[in-house]
Amino acid sequence: MYVESPRYTERFGSVRINDIQKVVALDSGLKSEIPPHGAMGVVKISEETIKDFEDRMAIVVPVKDERLKLFEGVISGIPHDCLIIVVSNSQREPVDRFRMERDTLNQMCRYTNRLAYIVHQKDARVAQAVKNAGYDELLDENGVVRNGKAEGMVIGLLMAKLAGKEYVGFVDADNYSPGSILEYVRIYAAGFSMAKSPYTMVRILWHYKPKLSGGTHFRKWGRVSEITNRCFNSLISSRTGFETNIIKTGNAGEHAMSLKLAELLPYASGYAVEPEELVSIFEQFGGTLPAGPAAVVKHGLDLFQIETRNPHLHEDKGTEHLGGMLLVGLSTIYHSPLCDQETKRLILSQLTIQKALKPRQQPPKPHINRPPSEINIREFTKNMEPCLEIYSALYEG
Ligand code: GDD
Ligand code: MG
Repeated sequence: MYVESPRYTERFGSVRINDIQKVVALDSGLKSEIPPHGAMGVVKISEETIKDFEDRMAIVVPVKDERLKLFEGVISGIPHDCLIIVVSNSQREPVDRFRMERDTLNQMCRYTNRLAYIVHQKDARVAQAVKNAGYDELLDENGVVRNGKAEGMVIGLLMAKLAGKEYVGFVDADNYSPGSILEYVRIYAAGFSMAKSPYTMVRILWHYKPKLSGGTHFRKWGRVSEITNRCFNSLISSRTGFETNIIKTGNAGEHAMSLKLAELLPYASGYAVEPEELVSIFEQFGGTLPAGPAAVVKHGLDLFQIETRNPHLHEDKGTEHLGGMLLVGLSTIYHSPLCDQETKRLILSQLTIQKALKPRQQPPKPHINRPPSEINIREFTKNMEPCLEIYSALYEG
């Protein structure tokens, strides 16, 4: 794969925020000469390097009642050497959609001789392990894991840790194009290979996000991401004194991290999760509030934003859904101790214009699940390890 080299980097405390890097070519061949690192502004990431990172990576697929054909396509696009972890919150009754997902995954794993885990978000054993680990905020009033994409992601990353992986990446289950999934994961590997620090995150920017109504219109910026990015940039500018537009992936659902970093971040409920990750990175390592763990300050943190070649084709879930996503996402910025008055005003005005908030209302405080490093992960592992086999897609129980 050829990717533009990180040509422009903004620093915010210990965080190195790299500007957009485009994928120049999806493949770089076996024999082609390797240009010196960064020559001509392009980095060659060899197939060997990509495979090496894929082998150390778990790909978590959060899924809730998606069309089975889409789910099937998504898992078929995940590179063979990655460990697949599906965390499903799909219905069990009257139709057992979880069972259908499990069967689909089982078939793929049997045919291709690979390992995958699939776990239901409301699984009683998982809830017990979470409780024993002291992670009570992840549970609802019935004592099972709360609803939400973020909550599914947290279970996924705890499972990735349990499986001994070093990296975790996320891909949504409602993608129409298996080839895009393959590209996302290759991009994650490419980003990790460019990182100088063990604390690293790769966020994907879609080349185009087409709207399939009548003719196809290749839109580049969704309204939600445009507004979220503007608020993030306002927040950074207020702290550094220099206007910026460096943040272009505030909502990136498709993203990946080293587990070392993933353990240090809090996870805001539902769709607030991706903006909150950035908010927390800036709070802990932006240099203006008391710093987070010293190891990160020492090594720094590499944030990559990489633009795909493939367009992003996924299910359209409607305007109301987008309004809700904007509200919870911006609420993470609004309630951050980093947030200045001007950014707060910008957030309120944008939310009112988009009718996600009534005039003079405040955005609700997000529900935050603590960083996994603050819970008793060993207790989670102790509870889950003996029964891990049950969650294998190949388990015939
Ligand atoms: N496990 C689990 N639990 N998965 C869930 C849940 C849940 O409660 N709710 C939704 N999901 C799954 C969906 O099935 C899908 O695979 C994925 O999470 C994303 O949900 P969508 O509802 O499709 O979100 P979206 O397409 O509007 O937004 C996506 O893109 C945004 C912008 O990049 C999400 O990834 C957002 O988080 C992201 O900000
Ligand atoms: Mg979607």
